[in-house]
Amino acid sequence: MGPFYGQITGWGMYVPERIITNQELVKRLDSSHEWIVQRTGIHQRHAAAPHETTSTMATQAACRALVKANLNPADLDLIVLGTSTPDHFVAPAPSSQVQHALGATNVPAFTVTTGCTGFVYALTVAHQFIQSGAYRNVLVIGAELLTRLINWQDRATAVLFGDGAGAVVVQATDRPCGLESFVLGSNGALGEHLSFPAGGIKEPLTPASLAEGRQYLQMNGREVFRFASKVMVESCRQVLAQAKVGLAEVDWVIPHQANERIIRAAAREMDIPLDQFIINIDRYANTSAASIPMALCEGLDSGRVQPHHKLLFASFGSGLTWATCLWQM
Ligand SMILES: CC(C)(COP(=O)(O)OP(=O)(O)OC[C@H]1O[C@@H](n2cnc3c(N)ncnc32)[C@H](O)[C@@H]1OP(=O)(O)O)[C@@H](O)C(=O)NCCC(=O)NCCS
Repeated sequence: MGPFYGQITGWGMYVPERIITNQELVKRLDSSHEWIVQRTGIHQRHAAAPHETTSTMATQAACRALVKANLNPADLDLIVLGTSTPDHFVAPAPSSQVQHALGATNVPAFTVTTGCTGFVYALTVAHQFIQSGAYRNVLVIGAELLTRLINWQDRATAVLFGDGAGAVVVQATDRPCGLESFVLGSNGALGEHLSFPAGGIKEPLTPASLAEGRQYLQMNGREVFRFASKVMVESCRQVLAQAKVGLAEVDWVIPHQANERIIRAAAREMDIPLDQFIINIDRYANTSAASIPMALCEGLDSGRVQPHHKLLFASFGSGLTWATCLWQM
């Protein structure tokens, strides 16, 4: 039996209805539409309604992916959810909530908590189960609800993030495709550059920490920018070298959408035309673990991404971590 390859047979995305434009945002913030567009490429973001959570958005995206793959939830062998914004602190895990909401009775499910690299980490892990022959039908989701965890008074972070979810169904096939090479990495020494200081075991929430806003994202934007620009290019080169694939053979780069300037810098450095990148940060801002599967969905739905195309998924995020892989459709 085997070898086994992983084929993306279904995909779906979900964003909340509510759109917050830069114009609306800057009414309450010392910033401007022009600044935000020039420094980040972001024009608007979607924000979850009060009744929505990470797992409800993930479930919506997952349902769409399952319909596309023509697969019943009960036929799934595994669910892997990449998110760092779980509905509950510690338990229950959002992956189990998605499993239940889908009606995927008793299907194993776990969460990958690596920040914005969550989807690529999850996809890489999921593919190992398929390659080994252990599982045939795996659902991989990236979902994030950050708008409830940022300080809307902090202009350095408030303008950057949005909510959303993207999902793919990966099924075993004997046609060579799927994960061709990957690079995963972590450098915890840089962890403090992107952190939520309070609300965890180390610093439980107290009235004082809440009053100080220590439950919100704190970010050293310049350091993260520097790290991201470097690691994106390095990891793309490593992944291509590993697979012995030249840049000319890559059809699309689907990067994590954190800042259009990071994407432009990587394109310049690698000498890849910008129109070979799938970019949607203008409409969704940074949706963390959801950004790559959402961009992939839009690439597929618009017909840009075609069967047999080679895709470079390149991500970086809190940790700080990075995760980049070469994927053949
Ligand atoms: C956050 C980020 C957009 C800031 O852009 P930048 O060009 O690096 O800007 P700087 O941090 O150098 O700040 C320049 C000035 O703009 C100001 N500024 C910051 N945010 C602003 C905003 N929303 N509107 C107006 N001015 C702003 C700063 O206060 C600073 O003012 P100063 O020079 O008077 O101190 C950018 O650093 C970034 O995108 N970093 C990566 C973040 C990221 O990707 N995080 C997620 C990783 S998964």
